[in-house]
Amino acid sequence: MQRGTDNGDGNGARGANLVYSKFLFVTLRDDDAKARAKLREAGTCIARGFFNDFDGNGTPNTQSNETIQFLGASTPRLCNDGLLSAGYVAHLTTRYRPRLDEIEVERRLGRVASVRAIDGALQAPRYTSAALHEFAFKPAAERQSGHANANVIILPMSKTADWWKMSTLERHAFFYPHVDRWTGTAATGHAVAAEDGIQTIYRRLYHNPDGYQRPNEYDFVTYFECADEHLQTFDIVRQALRDERRNPEWRFVIEGPEWRGRRILRW
Ligand code: HEM
Repeated sequence: MQRGTDNGDGNGARGANLVYSKFLFVTLRDDDAKARAKLREAGTCIARGFFNDFDGNGTPNTQSNETIQFLGASTPRLCNDGLLSAGYVAHLTTRYRPRLDEIEVERRLGRVASVRAIDGALQAPRYTSAALHEFAFKPAAERQSGHANANVIILPMSKTADWWKMSTLERHAFFYPHVDRWTGTAATGHAVAAEDGIQTIYRRLYHNPDGYQRPNEYDFVTYFECADEHLQTFDIVRQALRDERRNPEWRFVIEGPEWRGRRILRW
């Protein structure tokens, strides 16, 4: 059987990177006045030349196509992965990747904080037909300002080696209603399982810009924004996606830590 251009690690079928992004997860060693002052200063420096997306609401801005969104966690957790412990995050986007390498937040913060960076890239949808576009993308929630859509959920994840061993055509079935080949029963698939969130949860999918199945990296970073009243919808959608009877795709998902916080104007 023709297996397209896949070579088992998914990288044969990699899409083109259209927009690059970097998530900077910052964990302050001591959350005191000195550390916060240093953080504020670092934030001001890295934001130079980037359009602050706090008031971004989907309308293309004419000032810059490079954006920055500052985020703050209400209750960072004590853990050593550099993600859940992060009280502060900056999310930067640009079409010109070297711009992101110039961001020297680690050096600017010095000893007051540790920083974990995760790179991502927007790509064209890979499994979306015209019909799926009509269903899941055309009515999708538009970006709102940070006042209206204050909540952010960032969930990095990877797929298993077995997922990437399948051809793109085999993989695409998991996003549509289909018959689960393991149980022989009808499954709604990813898009219909997530239907409740289409109009209320703003979503972005960032691919690892350097390829999939890379050691100690994630294949994807999923990013969501929503209003307070829709946080519950997000939980319902995430639970529906995790239900392998409705969404057999999740058998192949390795979830990373889920970071939650709020959009803020500055650190
Ligand atoms: C809110 C409603 C959601 C809708 C309508 C939706 C719909 C979709 C669609 C149509 C795709 C296929 C994109 C393509 O053609 O490449 C996709 C991909 C993906 N979605 Fe969702 N999704 C939703 C929520 C979520 C949530 C909550 C998560 C994580 C918990 C998630 C994780 C992913 C991932 C990781 C992919 C990429 C999978 C891959 O390429 O193997 N989605 N989603």
